[in-house]
Amino acid sequence: MGHRSWMRSQGFTPEVFDGRPVIGIATTWSELAPCNVHLHRVAESVKRGVWQAGGFPLEFPAMALGETLLRPTAMLYRNLLAMEAEELMRANPLDGVVLLSGCDKTTPGLLMAAASVDLPAVMVTGGPMLNGKYQGTDVGSGTAVWRFEEDLVAGRMTQEECAFAEGCMARSNGHCMTMGTASTMASMAEALGMQLPYSATWPAVDARRYETAQRAGQVVVDLVRQDLRPSAIMTRAAFENAIRVNAAIGGSTNAVIHLLAIAGRLGVPLTLDDFDVLARDVPTLVNLQPSGKYLMEDFCYAGGLPAVIRELDDNGLLHSGAMTVTGAGIGANVADAPCWNREVIQTVADPFQPAGTGTAVLRGNLAPDGAVIKQSASSPHLLKHRGRALVFDSPADYYAVSNDPELDVDEDTVLVIRYCGPRGYPGMPEVSNVALPKKLLLRGVRDMVRICDGRMSGTAYGTVILHVTPEAAAGGPLALVRTGDWITLDVPGRTLTLEVADDELGRRRAGWQPPAPPASRGWTRLYTDHVLQADTGADMDFLLGASGHEVPRESH
Ligand code: FES
Repeated sequence: MGHRSWMRSQGFTPEVFDGRPVIGIATTWSELAPCNVHLHRVAESVKRGVWQAGGFPLEFPAMALGETLLRPTAMLYRNLLAMEAEELMRANPLDGVVLLSGCDKTTPGLLMAAASVDLPAVMVTGGPMLNGKYQGTDVGSGTAVWRFEEDLVAGRMTQEECAFAEGCMARSNGHCMTMGTASTMASMAEALGMQLPYSATWPAVDARRYETAQRAGQVVVDLVRQDLRPSAIMTRAAFENAIRVNAAIGGSTNAVIHLLAIAGRLGVPLTLDDFDVLARDVPTLVNLQPSGKYLMEDFCYAGGLPAVIRELDDNGLLHSGAMTVTGAGIGANVADAPCWNREVIQTVADPFQPAGTGTAVLRGNLAPDGAVIKQSASSPHLLKHRGRALVFDSPADYYAVSNDPELDVDEDTVLVIRYCGPRGYPGMPEVSNVALPKKLLLRGVRDMVRICDGRMSGTAYGTVILHVTPEAAAGGPLALVRTGDWITLDVPGRTLTLEVADDELGRRRAGWQPPAPPASRGWTRLYTDHVLQADTGADMDFLLGASGHEVPRESH
């Protein structure tokens, strides 16, 4: 009676307590997370599907992480969302869950939670915005921001034009419509088998997104009846599929961190090197910004992610039998998936970029535990490079002098920005792709090598070495680099080398002091005390693994 009576205050009829599956709908809706602001309406469609299939839907809020407003970075809170959602799913009497996400961190955060609880689950991402339109051309969220900012500094754009462009980029509900982290992670959820085919690519305002959401509501009730859980779907084969799909779509480097973190919840053995090995024989098929030309709306109309997955399957690059939320293997889901535009979705035989141009994993004395670079977003002439370091201990230190015409920098310089890792910043923000020094922009230089222990937005581009591990704040060799040191980058050889002798590095290490912790209390304290390094997904050490969904004790 105690459980039922209070629920009836919402006006439910008694039949909802007849033993039918109770389906939680975890929504990351918030007006502070504009990419997710339409998820209330998506939830209504999910509820229709749950009722149709004989379930009892109950919507509940999970922490909404808006990439554009949260400081110092939404990534600081991904693990908090994962922890909060995990506890809500376990502690409430749910039989299954539908996960509503959109903006970058909300998709991996909810998948991590679902993995640790292991209740039957279906994800519905919110979908991308419509294409941005500015002066007759398509402009992509994020990608265009970096370009406009550089054009403004270089005098190629006026302040008025910039302000006008601002309103032209985000024209509808939805997440970034470039192949940034949100689109990438939506695609990863589909490639992992955790959301329905086409779910990643329908635009947020497309009626078919709502149709898919309703279908997801029906599907989750079936999953409960079949007892098909995330641990049976997100297997090693599913992660290998996701890594290959990420290479084929030219996806964000952030997928590396998030997939490692999700795998860590399931006990699936996955390493940083898997991303390099598995991606090497996969060409980039999708011509989308920031690596290419088109945007998510074009990708959708060209056939969406199923056309890509089918192309990989037809060429033996997919574990076709990997189970999905449809109850069928991923290959069977896309067996008839058409492609309507081969300029947007190219083929393995005639790819947009050849195999081996995806995310590469680098190692060397500057990154003993690894670093990553997105080759497709880099300048080919910089992939083998030797230059002198110009070192800054924060992006702010760099920006304080980046417009100085006397700055001792040229196009061969290697910019080192450090103390931006999980512990250092804290939260490992997307600050690694610092804008080029004004002096070089005015000379027409458009790219230079940058090295950082932080991340880069999936919408960004440039020859930027990311996720250097161990980070500087954890005493990684990055902390020992000095301005003027020579650094050699060899992406084909997968090395990153600081040309300083070991004995000299030993002397520098003896004089190095770790930075003071950024906080003495609260979540930030807990986070910096327990966060793991980027090479294993930057989860908390105490959140690895799963606790299941059982709660044996009553509340009253
Ligand atoms: Fe939310 Fe890009 S800011 S997806």
